[in-house]
Amino acid sequence: MNIERPPLARWACAFLLAAAYALAAQAQGRPCLECHAELAQKKVVHAAVHMGCAICHAELDASSIPHKSGGKSAKGLSAESPAICANCHDKTLFEGKFIHGPVAAGLCLGCHDPHASENIGLLKKEPATLCLDCHSDIRRGPHVIAGFTRAGHPLGNEKKEVQDPLRPGKKFYCAGCHEPHRSDLPKLRRFPLGMVSCQKCHNK
Ligand code: HEC
Ligand code: HEC
Ligand code: HEC
Ligand code: HEC
Ligand code: HEC
Ligand code: HEC
Ligand code: HEC
Repeated sequence: MNIERPPLARWACAFLLAAAYALAAQAQGRPCLECHAELAQKKVVHAAVHMGCAICHAELDASSIPHKSGGKSAKGLSAESPAICANCHDKTLFEGKFIHGPVAAGLCLGCHDPHASENIGLLKKEPATLCLDCHSDIRRGPHVIAGFTRAGHPLGNEKKEVQDPLRPGKKFYCAGCHEPHRSDLPKLRRFPLGMVSCQKCHNK
């Protein structure tokens, strides 16, 4: 686990790992993508996949079908999620005063695809839908946030897509106002309550 390693060192470490696994990958038989191409044919591909399948599936012998798996993992993973994710992703992304329920439970794969996705952030579903599937109460009523009670704020599940004013290149949805993993503010808020927070996006 790389708690305080700066990003550059993290990359270097990842590439060393990739090099170390390259030999193992050859021993595993034919190139994985010959048969599993669909895993990498989506809009967003996990950078880890470009490092080679063996960086995660180190214990897999694909020379026969069904594949043989060493270690304890059926899919030949070198570790299970979330430990395998923590090999490369800073633990600090998931630490704070308030931790999102599913993150605390280690359910990375409840929200993310480990390989690729049509959605931003490797999300398994369209972003607002992902959140609303678990938070159906928010879908039903107006989302009453401090200072704004008229009819509920847009949530990102409307027909009309808008850009997030504070996160260039990303569609506006729940994560414009909420941190998805952790926050030091209650309700996983990105901003303190009050009109000042509204003005971050509505500067009129
Ligand atoms: C970042 C780590 C990681 C990398 C890199 C990775 N995988 Fe996976 N793979 C996983 C995890 C984790 C699962 C288990 C998913 C689950 O249980 O929902 C998985 C599951 C699978 C499965 C089972 C079907 C499925 O989608 O769950 C296949 C097939 C697979 N991986 C193939 C590959 C191939 C081929 C590559 C290289 C192109 C690759 N993986 C690269 C982590 C990875
Ligand atoms: C010749 C085609 C072929 C190649 C090459 C191949 N696979 Fe597969 N793979 C399959 C098939 C078919 C299945 C589904 C049957 C099964 O579960 O073994 C599968 C299943 C899997 C699974 C899921 C196993 C499970 O228990 O759910 C993983 C993970 C996987 N492959 C990874 C890889 C990796 C990594 C490589 C490269 C080292 C690779 N495969 C190369 C055809 C292939
Ligand atoms: C071998 C290293 C490695 C492993 C293991 C790994 N990742 Fe990544 N991941 C990366 C790199 C490199 C990036 C791109 C740079 C970054 O965002 O840090 C990335 C990016 C991401 C992103 C952002 C994608 C985007 O387009 O915004 C998500 C989400 C993600 N990883 C989730 C996971 C999850 C979940 C796991 C565990 C199943 C995992 N990663 C395991 C290396 C890894
Ligand atoms: C409740 C759903 C959910 C869970 C559970 C979850 N994530 Fe995320 N994750 C997200 C969302 C949403 C984003 C942000 C996408 C965006 O930018 O809009 C994100 C972004 C990321 C990123 C990109 C960097 C960043 O902070 O924006 C990484 C890396 C990542 N997640 C890894 C993980 C790992 C590892 C786990 C498990 C410990 C995990 N996530 C659990 C929803 C989740
Ligand atoms: C897999 C189900 C699941 C998904 C997906 C999910 N959540 Fe959650 N969320 C939970 C659980 C469980 C809690 C904890 C509930 C509690 O403590 O009362 C929670 C808590 C929250 C809270 C804090 C509520 C409070 O009263 O403190 C917010 C805000 C939140 N989620 C927003 C989101 C957003 C935004 C997304 C999409 C990025 C999302 N959730 C996706 C299950 C989920
Ligand atoms: C414009 C900003 C904004 C957007 C967009 C937004 N929220 Fe919130 N949300 C808030 C604020 C602010 C609170 C906290 C209210 C408080 O603490 O009094 C909150 C509270 C919550 C809570 C805690 C329970 C509650 O009703 O107070 C959940 C769960 C939640 N939001 C989920 C979501 C989900 C899911 C989405 C997307 C479908 C979303 N939010 C979109 C600002 C927003
Ligand atoms: C993270 C950015 C963000 C924050 C914070 C935010 N908003 Fe918004 N708000 C938006 C976006 C994006 C839209 C949609 C604009 C569009 O449709 O073009 C919007 C739309 C609105 C609308 C128009 C709704 C409609 O039906 O047309 C009102 C009113 C509004 N916001 C009030 C508020 C108030 C009050 C707050 C503070 C409590 C707030 N907003 C906080 C981003 C934000």
